[in-house]
Amino acid sequence: MITENKEKNLKSVDVITSKYNLNVGERGEKRLKVLGGLYNNNSIEFIREMGVENCNMVLDVASGTGEMTCKISKLSLGRVIGIDNSPEQISVAKKNADNLNIESVEFINVSAEELSSLNIKFDLIYCRFLLVHLRDPMIALKSMYDSLAIGGKLICEEATSSISFCYPPSTVFDKWLKLWDAIRADYDIGLKLHDAFRKLNLKIEKSIVHQPILSNEEEKSILLYNVLESVAAAERVGFATPDEMAKFADDMREFCKEDRYFIGYLRNTLICGKK
Ligand SMILES: C[S@@+](CC[C@H](N)C(=O)[O-])C[C@H]1O[C@@H](n2cnc3c(N)ncnc32)[C@H](O)[C@@H]1O
Repeated sequence: MITENKEKNLKSVDVITSKYNLNVGERGEKRLKVLGGLYNNNSIEFIREMGVENCNMVLDVASGTGEMTCKISKLSLGRVIGIDNSPEQISVAKKNADNLNIESVEFINVSAEELSSLNIKFDLIYCRFLLVHLRDPMIALKSMYDSLAIGGKLICEEATSSISFCYPPSTVFDKWLKLWDAIRADYDIGLKLHDAFRKLNLKIEKSIVHQPILSNEEEKSILLYNVLESVAAAERVGFATPDEMAKFADDMREFCKEDRYFIGYLRNTLICGKK
């Protein structure tokens, strides 16, 4: 399915495209729900420990469908804003906040690289699962840094994907990992956050790692969503044709039903730095 030549070319092609490769709006909502089930509790615990309740101005960067933004607004007495560069994500996030009767949260359509257009200094900025998609994550990180108040805190949460594992070994799982690498700008960005924070002169307050185990069919379905939503990107970077991806999805569907595999999904680094 994947020729050696294609594999060699994947990274360079991907770096040129640097595009958000997964579904947005209602089409991507189910995947983000499963993702939230795997990571939210741990993320919330970390944000709480870093003192979100005492912050007046809080920003969730690349807020997606707003799940974490809404949870953060329940922890904080201050004003909470979620931003995303996808108008579809913003409208789903607004709908979700309305359904939960959350009024203390606001969603704005702006890109992570252009936070200065908000003209607000934040006490806490949180960003999860964005930098992995960006060709130059330092531009977005610098934009976040510039929008922090003096003494404000930046919390980022990103994956070191190459540490994902499956035992006993599975060719379907291995192919998923290759796909993930092929269509991400830097699938090991989590490992590099500490260095990036230091380069920004942020004083690192705490960092931890968290790696969820996919232990049932619902949790494993995140792997299937990754395949189903990556058909166009896989074709664009020369990883596989749509027909090959359809076959891959069938194989993944079967893989997700098996209970003999011990699977460690993306290992996240959570890091907090103070300006
Ligand atoms: C994987 S989702 C993560 C959503 C949310 N942070 C979470 O953890 O559930 C990535 C989000 O980043 C958004 N995004 C991609 N590039 C962006 C950019 N340059 N600026 C702002 N948002 C961006 C996408 O629209 C998408 O909603």
